[in-house]
Amino acid sequence: MDFSKESIALSKIDADIVVLGVYQDENIAELLKSIDNDVPADFVSEVEAECRREDFTGKSKQTVSIATFAKLKSPRLILRGLGKDKAEDRVSASRKAAAGLARRLSTNTQIKSVSVDLRLKDAASAQAAVEGWILGSYHFHKYKTKKEDLKESTLAKVSLIAAVDEKGFDSAARTGKVIAESTNFARDMIAEPAAYMTPTRLAELASGISGSGISCEILEEAQIEKLGMGAFMGVTRGAHEPAKFIVMRYKNGNAKKTIAIAGKGITFDSGGLSMKNPQGMEHMKYDMSGAAAVLGCLRALAELQPSINIVAVAAATENMPGGSAMHPGDILTAMNGKTIEVNNTDAEGRLVLADALAYLCKEKPDEVLDLATLTGAVVTALGRVAAGIMGSDNDLINRVIKSGADAGEKYWQLPMYDEYKDSLKSDIADLKNAGSRGEAASCSAAMFLKEFVDGKPWAHMDIAGPGWVDKDKDEVNKGGTAFGVRTLCYYVLSEAAK
Ligand code: BES
Ligand code: ZN
Ligand code: ZN
Repeated sequence: MDFSKESIALSKIDADIVVLGVYQDENIAELLKSIDNDVPADFVSEVEAECRREDFTGKSKQTVSIATFAKLKSPRLILRGLGKDKAEDRVSASRKAAAGLARRLSTNTQIKSVSVDLRLKDAASAQAAVEGWILGSYHFHKYKTKKEDLKESTLAKVSLIAAVDEKGFDSAARTGKVIAESTNFARDMIAEPAAYMTPTRLAELASGISGSGISCEILEEAQIEKLGMGAFMGVTRGAHEPAKFIVMRYKNGNAKKTIAIAGKGITFDSGGLSMKNPQGMEHMKYDMSGAAAVLGCLRALAELQPSINIVAVAAATENMPGGSAMHPGDILTAMNGKTIEVNNTDAEGRLVLADALAYLCKEKPDEVLDLATLTGAVVTALGRVAAGIMGSDNDLINRVIKSGADAGEKYWQLPMYDEYKDSLKSDIADLKNAGSRGEAASCSAAMFLKEFVDGKPWAHMDIAGPGWVDKDKDEVNKGGTAFGVRTLCYYVLSEAAK
């Protein structure tokens, strides 16, 4: 999909569809006249009448589609509501409106060209519109066999009207395109069944990411064992599929800092011997969403080449109850020497992350981030709307929350009170892996991870909620959403620009 800046006036645009974004309660006649004085007056009245009939007032998501009967050069005008005109909502309104339009148009095989005026006032809005368009067009058809399910968009080119100069537009559009395509790359990974998206396949996809400054190293089980990653190895024991510890680096000559990122890559979480029930297990192929976010981010960095150094790991394994599976009660020794009593094999995410974080800290990063579908409790607390965020450094946490907001992903900070550590006390090891059932499980999980970050500035994103949704909404597709890719990209780009 290509995006270019449209410079022709609305009435003269020769596209299959022209789209105009309308803010809530805006006067449509005045709007049409102000953007193009050549729109014929009788057509303006027709548009007004149609809006009244359809009760269109510019509320977000409202849409009317009007045949122009040659009153405009284009045969069809779509009006799309942008909601209230508030400066702080403009960027996300652009993203949402573009996504809604793209979703609507992406199954129509008749449309070849579209020209869109979403009232983009700056580069950030233009970037968001491009992101929204690509994210809203996403679908995963690989396993569909019926023709009617396979309707592919024939739209190869979208023209956007924007109050940004050509150069600014092209750069914003390129950034938006890379971020959205990298998100879709991660969505594909999550959508694949666990039987396909094994740790080996994840490692192959990681190895396939190329670009200046990018390198990838896949550590096999023997090496993982040798490095002393006993916690990660404990989780792998019940699985036939070989585990992979994926290490990716991005190095840039102008970098002023190194950010470390860890992703939970459980390609299927059965719970292990502390087995989940069928409902709890149904979507557990998405338990590698943290790893998918890491790979998506690295794919984007390979293209965008920001001035930053990144060291990222995806700790990939299944959590299965095979004959050699870890038993509840086993004691594992993590890479930093701490011993862990496994009182619940279903709290496996923190075990693989313990070693991933300890490994990253040896690289002497300036700060550490991790993303994981870590707890069911965060879904209970925040639903599918927002991810939980916790950590050791409020400045870092606030920067990540801000980047998430800019990118269209919500975070809510949960506390890290010392008391939550009490529930992790073990009688015979340094700590146990699961706290008291039903009590602040997201917080005690974060307290567990804190034991492995060596005092570094650290932020932990528990993405179990927004990582999977049941309904398409704005730029977010149903199924695995690849939540976190956008936040990571925005965060890394903003740090690189400092
Ligand atoms: N992968 C799950 C967390 C999860 C649950 C993600 C629901 C998405 C939706 C994680 O490995 C897990 O099972 N956590 C346990 C921890 C508990 C045993 C302390 C949980 O949340 O129940
Ligand atoms: Zn689990
Ligand atoms: Zn899990």
